[in-house]
Amino acid sequence: MAGYKTYYMSTVENSSVGDNSIIGDFSRVRNSEIGKYVRIDRNNLVQNCKIDDYSYTGPFDMIFNTEIGKFTSISYGVTIGPPEHDYKRISMHPFIYNKGYDILDDDDLIRNDKFDRISKIGNDVWIGCNSTILRGVEIPNGVVVGANSVVTKTPTPYSIIAGCPARVLKMRFADSIIRIMQEIRWWDCDAKILKKCKDFFVKPNITFEDCLKFQTIISDNKEK
Ligand SMILES: CC(C)(COP(=O)(O)OP(=O)(O)OC[C@H]1O[C@@H](n2cnc3c(N)ncnc32)[C@H](O)[C@@H]1OP(=O)(O)O)[C@@H](O)C(=O)NCCC(=O)NCCS
Repeated sequence: MAGYKTYYMSTVENSSVGDNSIIGDFSRVRNSEIGKYVRIDRNNLVQNCKIDDYSYTGPFDMIFNTEIGKFTSISYGVTIGPPEHDYKRISMHPFIYNKGYDILDDDDLIRNDKFDRISKIGNDVWIGCNSTILRGVEIPNGVVVGANSVVTKTPTPYSIIAGCPARVLKMRFADSIIRIMQEIRWWDCDAKILKKCKDFFVKPNITFEDCLKFQTIISDNKEK
């Protein structure tokens, strides 16, 4: 499919969306760059974001000021980069930023810096349902975020984290495998190369030897 598809009552404002991507019912994409084969599910708000190829969201996600890599899976009810209120002022109410409340005048308004810290989500990340990734937090490549987690700090690549605040439960792979994954960055290969690696993608428990073979196929093909 050339171009992208928008579903019922969805809007795309001041944004670019790549080929074969879809924007689900009632979703709103604002000031964002969306790659190819991306799915923004229904009832999402995606604002000031970059979402790279093949990543997808679930229903009812709210994603602000975030860069997301490739092949990342985001479940339903997830919030990333929620805006914050400045609790060190006398009032946290937005009347201090917004003259529409008729309390402060233009000159008295405080610059709204609620969106200054961006969040980053890597490649091949899986974020479980109803989780929140706080503003400014980075989720590196390969991380699993368990259901209902609140992530307040940057975890290590390929860790499995969960809870509130999220803590490391275990690692997805041994260090030797993680090193290879981080080095080969398979997610940046084009689809033709990934097709050649299908035996590795369908294998349930990957070993170090598998990884070495996978690495060889990827690097041989990249060089061509
Ligand atoms: C994180 C997760 C992937 C781990 O799965 P797993 O490897 O099978 O882990 P286990 O069930 O063996 O649990 C390991 C430990 O972590 C705890 N744990 C697992 N998931 C947790 C979560 N979401 N929050 C808090 N603790 C969690 C378990 O209670 C267990 O603790 P224990 O060692 O004290 O007994 C899984 O539990 C999860 O949260 N999946 C997300 C599901 C989801 O959101 N799906 C949406 C559709 S995509």
